[in-house]
Amino acid sequence: MKLPLIIVNFKAYEQATGASAVELAKIHERVAQETGASIGVAVNHIDLLDVVRAVNIPVFAQHIDPVGYGSFTGHVLPDVVKATGAYGTLLNHAEYQLENQKLMKAIESARDAELFTIVCADTPAAAEKIVEWGPDLIAVEPPELIGGDVSVSKAGPEVIEDAVGLVGENRLLVGAGVKDREDVCIALSLGASGVLLASGVIKADDPYSVLMDLVAGLG
Ligand code: G3P
Repeated sequence: MKLPLIIVNFKAYEQATGASAVELAKIHERVAQETGASIGVAVNHIDLLDVVRAVNIPVFAQHIDPVGYGSFTGHVLPDVVKATGAYGTLLNHAEYQLENQKLMKAIESARDAELFTIVCADTPAAAEKIVEWGPDLIAVEPPELIGGDVSVSKAGPEVIEDAVGLVGENRLLVGAGVKDREDVCIALSLGASGVLLASGVIKADDPYSVLMDLVAGLG
């Protein structure tokens, strides 16, 4: 994906699942088309195929398991995710963390399936370790700020600076509490290449306006 970018994680919010996931994804597509901004969405597995068919922006699974075809009841197969037309996968979100061995294998499996990987880390130090495993992007999100009113940009600028120092430029997204253009601007000015967010868009009365405002922060 072109940097800088905005990824919106639909999580399992009611406003962002089922038919609402498709409608919300279409709003993201509209903003991407109107502004030329790089915007992706990470949707629930159940909605993946419907969303991929409905929009022409990168769509991510929220997780994959490091397994191939076979006896793996309940697992999320990277090859099947790829076959939907999905662009990539989030991995290791704070709400779905994987132990190191499994995460390493999941990154490898996603790569084998030609899925773009955005791997979450809760600290810059964790990000430094994960970057060795070859993800396409790392997203650092302090867990205590996720879903809150104060953004990582305002409450933890040093987290962004540290992460850029450890991970390098052009590889880092930041997230947690991101709500508006100022949050995006600060993150980018500190060296991040984009933001990962959820509630700021999903819970908004007018997601289109919020997305337009966030995009303005990309510069
Ligand atoms: O995946 C993004 C997320 O964890 C941040 O959530 O609601 O703080 O933007 P939120």
